[in-house]
Amino acid sequence: MMPEDAQLPATQSARLRLAFDDDRDAETFLLRLDRYGPELLESLGAVYGEAAPDLYERLTDALVLGTHERPADLKRLDEARLLRPDWLQQEGMLGYVAYTERFAGTLKGVARHLPYLKGLGVTYLHLMPLLLPREGENDGGYAVQDFRTVRPDLGSMQDLSDLGRELRGQGLSLCLDLVLNHVAQEHDWAVRAQAGEAKYQAYFHMNPDREQPDAYERTLPEVFPEFAPGNFTWNEASQRWVWTTFNTYQWDLNWANPDVFLEFVEILMYLANRGVEIFRLDAIAFIWKRMGTDSQNQPEVHILTRALRSVLRIVAPAVAFKAEAIVAPGDLISYLGRGAHHGKLSDLAYHNSVMVQLWSTLASRDVRLFEAALLNFPPKPTSATWGVYVRCHDDIGWAISDEDAAQSGLSGPAHRRFLSDFYAGEYPGSFASGLVFQHNPRTGDRRISGSAASLAGLERAQALGDEAAKTLALERLLLLHAVTLGFGGVALLYMGDELATLNDYSFEGDPVHASDNRWVHRPVMNWERAAERYDPATTAGRMYGGLRGLIGARKRLPHLHASVEAEVFHSPNSAVLFLARRHPVGTLLGLYNFSEQPQEFPVSALTPHFERATDVISGATMPLVEKAIILAPYGRLWLTEEKRSG
Ligand code: GLC
Repeated sequence: MMPEDAQLPATQSARLRLAFDDDRDAETFLLRLDRYGPELLESLGAVYGEAAPDLYERLTDALVLGTHERPADLKRLDEARLLRPDWLQQEGMLGYVAYTERFAGTLKGVARHLPYLKGLGVTYLHLMPLLLPREGENDGGYAVQDFRTVRPDLGSMQDLSDLGRELRGQGLSLCLDLVLNHVAQEHDWAVRAQAGEAKYQAYFHMNPDREQPDAYERTLPEVFPEFAPGNFTWNEASQRWVWTTFNTYQWDLNWANPDVFLEFVEILMYLANRGVEIFRLDAIAFIWKRMGTDSQNQPEVHILTRALRSVLRIVAPAVAFKAEAIVAPGDLISYLGRGAHHGKLSDLAYHNSVMVQLWSTLASRDVRLFEAALLNFPPKPTSATWGVYVRCHDDIGWAISDEDAAQSGLSGPAHRRFLSDFYAGEYPGSFASGLVFQHNPRTGDRRISGSAASLAGLERAQALGDEAAKTLALERLLLLHAVTLGFGGVALLYMGDELATLNDYSFEGDPVHASDNRWVHRPVMNWERAAERYDPATTAGRMYGGLRGLIGARKRLPHLHASVEAEVFHSPNSAVLFLARRHPVGTLLGLYNFSEQPQEFPVSALTPHFERATDVISGATMPLVEKAIILAPYGRLWLTEEKRSG
């Protein structure tokens, strides 16, 4: 037995070696295959059972091809990243999230605006979906018709590679969405499935009758209860019910089919070889279906991610994964790799909870729920990184658990109702101008759309011409950004927020967007407004200047390296959030006043950490001799030990 077993890999490696002209390339490939191949095979075995060895064989051939196609400059990047495995965890990492067409018209236009991004300190650019989507409604591009074609109005695949190279040259990494859960019904696979081709029908979940769909429906939630109720759609052409979690035109893929896995490996390599450095794994939670469950966060999701990750570690180790899993904290943490998956899944995940708590605390002026949510949050693996953000292109769902609410003396349902009322601008005294998205009468959920500036009160203040209210709104925005920028991890700025951009109601007149009010916070970049960014007399300039100050201060804080976790301390003042980062280089304490009143903060809570402090944001030193320090309305401090010369 033994000799035969040992012989097999040797034969395989000899065969693979022959596939390379260059001995060094062969050596590198085989070393990586040695390292990650067993893991890959094991993952495939766990999901595909007996089909795994055959799949693995087909896969290694695909990997050789992918390696051949990887351009030399990206191979160099691979080597560089292997020398700096914590590149995504660096304290200065700053993401910018934008729609190509709304930011700059085309991909070439994005390159022209690179100085703008550099000026802001951006190191990572997430361009919203730009691969060919279906025509008409396409869920903001998340209904992809062809993964290998760029939207023609934005440019070509060549333009994408050129942009990737240009970004890289300037120290920015390109992030793109990879929609794993579904394709547009116009995608070639779906078209062939509709035409009755059995091979492609097996790429989807298709049923001739309602038996299976009804059985699944019993435990499935609804993602878009208003515009796409139910999870299955009748397809006339094939006479079948098709699984469609999101919109009726987005067909869920059947990842239990090894062919689907192989297709995505090829897509991943194709895009990675064109310079994509970070894949945002869209709606990853949904890719594996299991009867009797909500078909989210199933163990196979993680095994499949591990397999895809192993593939990239062999072909394109420079590449990282970002999980877009907007799920409960206990489930979320699994996307960063737990137990046997430690360090082997996504490198980055959205910290949805921080975003929700920021808005919740701004409305309540009470940090207790924020504290409970962070205290109950499972610890992050040291190799992983949070993506922290104030706003993104999606709505805000009030993901606040009843347990966390109860711990802070609140009722979960009542608080969630309050937040929807508050941000819809219906609550007495609310400063916000938001819109209700996807009201679900069954669960009572009312999610909220709206730009950060409008939700923080700037829209109302401007309409009233109320200067004091305007100042408060800007201070709120800077406060929220101070928390995300001071949290550690990749802070993600959402296009326009750096200029305090208001809601854009023009979507209502656009037939393709009118039914989806998330477009209210997906504005077109206003470059005239951007031109005012250095003028402190303008609203845009006040926001931009404040933000740039924070970004600059942040670069001086090694405490923010993401290997260290942010901690929450019980705050002696319920309006002030008290965060800490205890890094070997020293401690960083963040104080954030969530109220429009000045707040006292007892010095006795700081002196256990240091005697004299410096506020890194303002540069002021603080002797910490008085009984309390005073935080201005919405004031924020990043305190470190004062370094004394001599
Ligand atoms: C993600 C996207 C969202 C989209 C959904 C379906 O959640 O962020 O915009 O609607 O996936 O692809």
